[in-house]
Amino acid sequence: MDLLEYIEKIPKAELHLHIEGTLQPELLLKLAKRNNVSLPYSSIQKIKDAYQFQNLQDFLDIYYAGANVLRTEQDFFDLTWDYLEDAHRQHIIHVEIFFDPQTHTERGIPFSVIISGIHKAMERAKKNLGINSQLILSFLRHLPEESAFKTWEEAKQYKHLFVGIGLDSSELGNPPKKFKNIFAEAKKDGMKLVAHAGEEGPASYVREAIDVLNIDRIDHGNKCLDDENLVTEIIKKGLALTICPLSNIVLKNTPCMEEHPILKMLEKGLKVTVNSDDPAYFGGNLVKNFEAMATNLPLTKNHVYQLTKNAFEASFIDESLKEQYL
Ligand code: ADE
Ligand code: ZN
Repeated sequence: MDLLEYIEKIPKAELHLHIEGTLQPELLLKLAKRNNVSLPYSSIQKIKDAYQFQNLQDFLDIYYAGANVLRTEQDFFDLTWDYLEDAHRQHIIHVEIFFDPQTHTERGIPFSVIISGIHKAMERAKKNLGINSQLILSFLRHLPEESAFKTWEEAKQYKHLFVGIGLDSSELGNPPKKFKNIFAEAKKDGMKLVAHAGEEGPASYVREAIDVLNIDRIDHGNKCLDDENLVTEIIKKGLALTICPLSNIVLKNTPCMEEHPILKMLEKGLKVTVNSDDPAYFGGNLVKNFEAMATNLPLTKNHVYQLTKNAFEASFIDESLKEQYL
C-alpha cells in the first residue's frame, strides 16, 4: 500500500474542526437562497476567488459573514450532515466538533435551534455511518467575558450534549487570561478545556492558556516553538497540540508547507495531531492536509500512524472506551 492509500484508509480522528468552517460554497449559496439572504457573491467561483487571506482577521470577517446564512435547525443539520458524510468518506471514525454559539445568538438565532440541528446530524451519523462525534462549545475571544458567561448560563441546560469548552476568534489582543473565570466555572461543571493559543499570538499566550486556563489540550500552539522551556513543559505535561497545516499556510502563519514544523515537533516529543480547522476555507479536509504533508515534507507511514494514534490518545473519548480505538 503506498503512502497516499495508507493516509486514506487508516481510521482517523479529527480534534480541531469548526462546524461553521465546513460551510462549502455550494451550501452557502443554497442556504442564502433558501433564507433570502443577499450575498456579495453570485457564483461558486466568485466565492472561491474571495477566499484570499492575509491573516486570521481577514479570514474571520469572511467566515462570520458566511455564517449569516445559517438560520434554522434544518440549516445547522444540513451543515453538520454534509461534514459528517465527508468525514465518513475519509475514514474518520471519531471527531470533536467546535461550534461558536455567539456567532449565531448575537444575530438572534436561539441556542436551542443551533444545538438541535447539529446534534440531530451527529445522532444520525452515529446510527447510519458509525461515526462517533462530540461537541465543544467555543467562546469568541473578541467578545467580553460577560458575554461568555451569558452564553454559558443558557448552554448549561444542554451540557449533556457537549464534552468541553474552547476559545477561538481574534487572538492578538485577546489573551487567554481574559477568560480565566469562565474557564474555572466550566471546569467545575465537569467540562474538558481547550483553547486556541499560539496560532497568531505569542508563545506567552500558550503558557497562559496552560497556567491560567488549565487547558487539557492546546489548539494550534505552533508558537510554543519560540520558547524552548515551554516546549519542555508541554512535553512533560503530555499536553497534545491540534495542528492544522493547511490553515497555517493559508493564514500565513507558516510561509509554505515545505517549512511546516509539524514533523520537527513530533521528533521533539510533542504530542501533535493533524486537523483541518475550517476545511471549506483552507483548501481541504483532513485527508487533504495529510496529502499536502506527503507532497511537501518527508512524511512516512510511521509518521501517519503516530499522528493518528496521538489523535485518538488526545481525544476526549471516555477512557474506558479508548482501548477499542487504539
Ligand atoms: N474560528 C474558526 N477558525 C478559527 C481559527 N483558525 N482561529 C481562530 N478562530 C477561529
Ligand atoms: Zn481553529
